[in-house]
Amino acid sequence: MKAGQSFGRREFLKTTGEALSLFTVAIHLPSQIANATEGGSKRIKREAPHIRRLLDEMDSKGSRFWSVPQKDGELLYFIIKATRSRNVLEVGTSHGFSAIWIGLGLEETGGKLTTIEIDKERYNLARKHVNEAGLSQRITSIRGDAHVEVTKLEGPFDFVFLDADKEGQMDYFNKLFPKKLVPGGILAVHNAIRHAHSMKDYLDMIQKHPDFDTVILSVTMDDGFCLSYRHRVS
Ligand SMILES: C[S@@+](CC[C@H](N)C(=O)[O-])C[C@H]1O[C@@H](n2cnc3c(N)ncnc32)[C@H](O)[C@@H]1O
Repeated sequence: MKAGQSFGRREFLKTTGEALSLFTVAIHLPSQIANATEGGSKRIKREAPHIRRLLDEMDSKGSRFWSVPQKDGELLYFIIKATRSRNVLEVGTSHGFSAIWIGLGLEETGGKLTTIEIDKERYNLARKHVNEAGLSQRITSIRGDAHVEVTKLEGPFDFVFLDADKEGQMDYFNKLFPKKLVPGGILAVHNAIRHAHSMKDYLDMIQKHPDFDTVILSVTMDDGFCLSYRHRVS
């Protein structure tokens, strides 16, 4: 599916199939399995009452903070676990809703999230929420302009979630690829359907890029994700 096209049921089923094959490629990376330290029985689970309360409360304020819909949070959680991702970067924390979903996935893989937010109030609120979730050991919050902060991070990351300024995707990509995204890693861009017009340059580029398999899909039939899997061998 190309940027700007409508997204019918048939297209949804087609891209869902493509996405499943993408996950099949991405999962079961032997080196990652060998190195993985699972979270153990004390890990924080999404079913825990304090997590459910917190996520419900944050979701109810989601439109004010532009956070991903609950279903998209669940997809992030699913992908992190399915791909056994361990070193994750998020650009655009807002109040920390998607960060907590990613953090819950990382509880199961033993990984870490670094998340960047430019706005002071939202950065402080996200830290409060991460703390309430009990995930502060797993999630490092950085306050600043991600276009600058990304250049200071060493990486490499095996999962990157871009959910800040939509026009900035190409610049983030150029700062992350090739050194800061591992072969076999995934680049996930939110709002690839709803805001396709604001990231057309990126969507056109990534769908043709020889080093990536890319699918555009939507769980909510609305916002949409652009998921790009970096081939292990180029
Ligand atoms: C759509 S919201 C993120 C929602 C969050 N991922 C969630 O689902 O809970 C986008 C956030 O990106 C932040 N942002 C925009 N431009 C940024 C930049 N250049 N660097 C860091 N954060 C930025 C905004 O302040 C806003 O809080």
